[in-house]
Amino acid sequence: MLFLKKNYFCMIGVLFVCLGNICRSPLAEGIFKRKVEEAGLEELITIDSAGTSGWHINEPPDRRSVDIARKNGISLDHYGQQISPKDFDQFDYIIAMDGDNYDDIIRMRDSHGNGKAKVLIMREFDDQQSGSDVPDPYYGGPNGFQLVYDMLDESLSNFLNRIVDDHGLK
Ligand code: 4NP
Repeated sequence: MLFLKKNYFCMIGVLFVCLGNICRSPLAEGIFKRKVEEAGLEELITIDSAGTSGWHINEPPDRRSVDIARKNGISLDHYGQQISPKDFDQFDYIIAMDGDNYDDIIRMRDSHGNGKAKVLIMREFDDQQSGSDVPDPYYGGPNGFQLVYDMLDESLSNFLNRIVDDHGLK
């Protein structure tokens, strides 16, 4: 059972970001939405995803991400979009999937002023291998998507714990 230590008047915003916004970040969005629902926090945390590129705007997620999500009981409800400067004001956390995404996000933030968002890398929440990338599975086979799913599942549980701590949710 979860209790709120404080009164909350505004949502906590989380944006997951990869390169294309069709493989890793929509999968992260779907997995995290389920974890947040399971924790009963869906009224408090708003979740979205975006790409550093605009290559797949308005496209649904890659079939292989849809399949691995469905295998785990998750449906992905997202259409591709590109990160924009307003996201640094709108979201509290922007989570990059890899180091290149992180560098691109920081470059955008630095050229548009700061915003409130904390920009972090997903695998800093992975106990197994802190600090490395969620690898881009786009050019590989289905095994790559299973690997990505497992990494996200682990990291996102720890990330949710971090939000609970940061915001005094218990
Ligand atoms: P994502 O994967 O960044 O995890 O969505 C990719 C999707 C598309 C491309 C590259 C990576 N692409 O080159 O189109």
